[in-house]
Amino acid sequence: MNNITLAPVQTDQPSHLMPVFGRQPISFVRGRGAYLYTEDGTEYLDALTGIAVCGLGHAHPVIAEAIAEQAATLIHTSNLFEVPWQTAAAQKLAEVAGMEEVFFSNSGAESNEGAIKIARKFGHMQGIASPKIIVADKSFHGRTLATLSATGNKKVQQGFGPLVEGFIRVPFGDIEAIEEAAINHPNIVAILVEPIQGEGGVNTAPQGFSYLEEIRQICNQHNWLMMLDEVQTGNGRTGKYFAYQHTNIVPDVLTTAKGLGNGFPIGAVMTQGRGVGVLTAGNHGSTYSGTALGSRVVYTIIDIMQKENIVANAAEKGAYIVEQLRNQLADHQVTVRGFGLMIGIELPKDCGELVDIARDEYKTIINVTAGNVVRLLPTLNITQEQADQLIERLVKMIKAYLA
Ligand SMILES: Cc1ncc(COP(=O)(O)O)c(C=O)c1O
Repeated sequence: MNNITLAPVQTDQPSHLMPVFGRQPISFVRGRGAYLYTEDGTEYLDALTGIAVCGLGHAHPVIAEAIAEQAATLIHTSNLFEVPWQTAAAQKLAEVAGMEEVFFSNSGAESNEGAIKIARKFGHMQGIASPKIIVADKSFHGRTLATLSATGNKKVQQGFGPLVEGFIRVPFGDIEAIEEAAINHPNIVAILVEPIQGEGGVNTAPQGFSYLEEIRQICNQHNWLMMLDEVQTGNGRTGKYFAYQHTNIVPDVLTTAKGLGNGFPIGAVMTQGRGVGVLTAGNHGSTYSGTALGSRVVYTIIDIMQKENIVANAAEKGAYIVEQLRNQLADHQVTVRGFGLMIGIELPKDCGELVDIARDEYKTIINVTAGNVVRLLPTLNITQEQADQLIERLVKMIKAYLA
């Protein structure tokens, strides 16, 4: 152990942090599994997991050990050299993702930047000078310029024009709108959507996952790339390793991040089928792409997920939580939706204040998105006891709130 400790934060001093985040008046100093702890030892049930990130829970001993050992051995050498952990992590990820090629990025937005570049290059390879990508209303793809331009939320784009061009927007779940776009825009090369919209309100398409099958068909028909943003839905979150695996189709391009690193910042853009071989030497890169440390984290996480059947647990506990919430809140005008452990409870009125109420009165960390949707993203290895604890607290809170 080193002897550097953190002095207590002086709240009367001006902060040097750019004020871009709306923070809650609490900080956690440690975590263990599904729980977070403040300095005074108060325990909070974490049903947000760093926004769908820490799926295997906080301070997972096997991941912590892998990080410590690799940090003490070799963190980074750059991609000027072979990185054995990167090769091994790519192999493991490609296997669970059903993909062929993997490029490691450092975040979800960067993964989507990679996908957008693949789509554009795919177009240029066919002589399309101004390639276009279809994206959905209410989507969220990140905060970089290209990804915020792809995002279907004006608030995210406000103040950052001119936006990156080349995106055509359609309502989420609307196949006719895609077919219409195909007629009106000759330069379309790809479609990019989330299987379930996370930030947009845990929105599933009206036709469920068959939306993805319909998109696959259209992409085949027009020689477009089918690109899925599984930054949030990936890595076991919806009860399959990737949400598209609820269907019989496979996308050409798949992006992910969040749960891929359980808190270690790493993402990936992957390809198969038409997406393979589009990006070649010199087309893309990042100093930190697949460091030895980050890659070992990915490898370790997938290994744990496989050995401990975490994805099956997410499916089973998710179905249980949804069923219980539906039953116990049946008379309260709420809609419970989602797959696996990506669950939204839509209330009949805006309910942003429930974040504070859940935290302060029920010692539970939740999120509210789209104004009136309580979003639950608990640990994927949640136990039956923890699932019951979460249900009990939520039901009590929502009943009291709507009374
Ligand atoms: C579907 C989706 N795509 C992209 C992103 C952006 O990821 P990051 O914040 O790691 O850049 C997010 C983050 O919430 C997301 O939910």
